[in-house]
Amino acid sequence: MTAALHWSYLAAAVCFILALRGLSGPRTARPGNLIGAFGMALALALTLSATHLSNLVLLIVAMAVGVAIGVPVARMVRMTAMPQMVAAFNGVGGGAAALVALADYIRSSNGVALSTGNRLAVMLGVVIGCISFAGSVVAFAKLQELITGRPIVYPGQQVVNGVMGAAALALTVTAIIGPHVGLVAIVGLIALGLGVAVVMPIGGADVPVVISLLNSLTGLAVAASGFVLHNVVLIVAGTLVGASGTLLTRMMSQAMGRSLANIIFGAFGSVSAVAGADGAGGERTVRSGTADDIGTLLAYSNRVIVVPGYGLAVAQAQHTIRELADLLESRGVEVIYAIHPVAGRMPGHMNVLLAEADVPYEQLKEMDEANPLLPSTDVALVVGANDVVNPAARDSPGSPIYGMPIINVDEAGNIIFLKRSMRPGFAGIDNELLYNPKTTLLFGDAKDSLSKLVAAVKTA
Ligand code: TAP
Repeated sequence: MTAALHWSYLAAAVCFILALRGLSGPRTARPGNLIGAFGMALALALTLSATHLSNLVLLIVAMAVGVAIGVPVARMVRMTAMPQMVAAFNGVGGGAAALVALADYIRSSNGVALSTGNRLAVMLGVVIGCISFAGSVVAFAKLQELITGRPIVYPGQQVVNGVMGAAALALTVTAIIGPHVGLVAIVGLIALGLGVAVVMPIGGADVPVVISLLNSLTGLAVAASGFVLHNVVLIVAGTLVGASGTLLTRMMSQAMGRSLANIIFGAFGSVSAVAGADGAGGERTVRSGTADDIGTLLAYSNRVIVVPGYGLAVAQAQHTIRELADLLESRGVEVIYAIHPVAGRMPGHMNVLLAEADVPYEQLKEMDEANPLLPSTDVALVVGANDVVNPAARDSPGSPIYGMPIINVDEAGNIIFLKRSMRPGFAGIDNELLYNPKTTLLFGDAKDSLSKLVAAVKTA
C-alpha cells in the first residue's frame, strides 16, 4: 500500500471521528452526518482505486445491489420502524465481516500463511460476525412482530447457552493453533446458534439495547477484519463503531435503570402484567376530560411542560404539538418539552421527531433539567408517554421498572394524559398516575386530540 493511500485512509478516518463529534448535538448533527458520508465515499473510492480490475467489476455489482436495496429502504422506513432497520443493516454488516474473515481463513489454508495473531483476528471476525448476524435477525423479527416480542425462555436455557459458548471457544482456540476450514465452519454455525439463543430470551422493550450491543460487536468484527487485511480505515471505523456502540448501550441501560447483565439474562417482560394492565383498569375509575376544558386550563397556565413519548411518534403528531405550543406561547404561556433519554423506541427518538417539526432547541430540556421545574409547573401534558412517567419506577421496589429514572410529572399542579385507552406502555405494567386525582385523560389518537386542543385554546 502506498504512503499516499495510507494518508488518504487516515483522512477518511479523521472524517469519521469528526462525524461522531458532530452527531453528538442536534445543531451539528446534519453537518456531522455529511462529513461521515464524505469520509465513507473517500474510503470507498480509495479502495476501488487500489482494487484489481477483475475484482472491480464484482465490487461494483455488489455495491449496485446494496445501493438499490439500501436507498429505497432507508427513504421509505417509518420513524417508528427505525430500530428494525438498524437491526437489519447491522445484521448485514456482521454477516459481511464474518464472510470476509472466513474467506481469509480459507486463503490461509490454501497456502497464504497467516500469523497466529492474524488467525486470532480472523476467528474473532467469524465468531463475533456470526453472533451479530443471527442476533440481529432475531431482533429484527421481534421488533417487526414476525415472532413474539415476549421473552422466549425454557428451563436450563442458560446452561445450554453456556455449553454452546464453551464449545465455540474451544473450537476457536483449536482453529487458531492449526488451520482447519471445516472447524471454522462448525464454529460459525455454533456462533449463529448462539446469536439466536442469546437474543430469544430478551423482551421486546429491551431489544433496542441489544441491537446497540450487537452493533458494537459488529464494529469489533470489522476492526478484526481490518487487522487481517492491513486496512487502517476498517480498523479505525470498526473501533469507533465498537466504542460508540458500547457507550450507547451503557447509557441506554443506565437510563432504563438496569444493568446490561439484567437486560441480557433477566428475560424482562416475562412477568405477568399487574392488575389493570389488560386495559380494563380493574374496578378503579379514572377522570376523563373534554378538549374544551383542557384547552382552557392550558390557555390560562403560566407554564406547561410537554412530556412526549412513543405515542407521539405513532400518531405522527410532532407538527400538531408544535402548533399547540406556538399558540400557547403567543398567549404568554411558557412551554417546555421534557425529554426522557429512553422515551420512544430508539435513542434520541423524541429529539429527532421534534426537530422534524422545527421545535426550537431551547425549549427541549433533558429529564434532569426538567424535573426541578415540575413543582412550579401548572400542567404536565403527557403526549403518548407512559413508562417514562410511571411513579412505580421510583416508588415500587417490586416493579419491573423499579430504579428507572422518570420525569416526575406527579409533582405538577395538573396532569393531562393524551392516549387512546387504558393500555399500558411497552413495559406492560399499569400506571398509578392514571388514577391520580390530579390526572385528567383525553382519550384518542394524539394527533386528533392535539388538533382539538388547538381549536379549544383558540376559543378560550
Ligand atoms: P410507552 O411506555 O411505550 O407508552 C406509550 C404510550 O403511548 C402507550 O401508553 C399508548 O397508550 C400511547 N399511544 C400509542 N399510540 C398512540 C397514539 N396514536 N395516540 C396517543 N397515544 C398513543 O412509551 P414511553 O413512555 O415513551 O416509554 C418508552 C418505553 O420504551 C420504555 O419502557 C423504555 O424503557 C422502552 N425502550 C426505549 C428505548 C429507547 S432508546 N427509546 C429502548 C428500549 C426500550 P394507548 O395504547 O392507550 O394509546
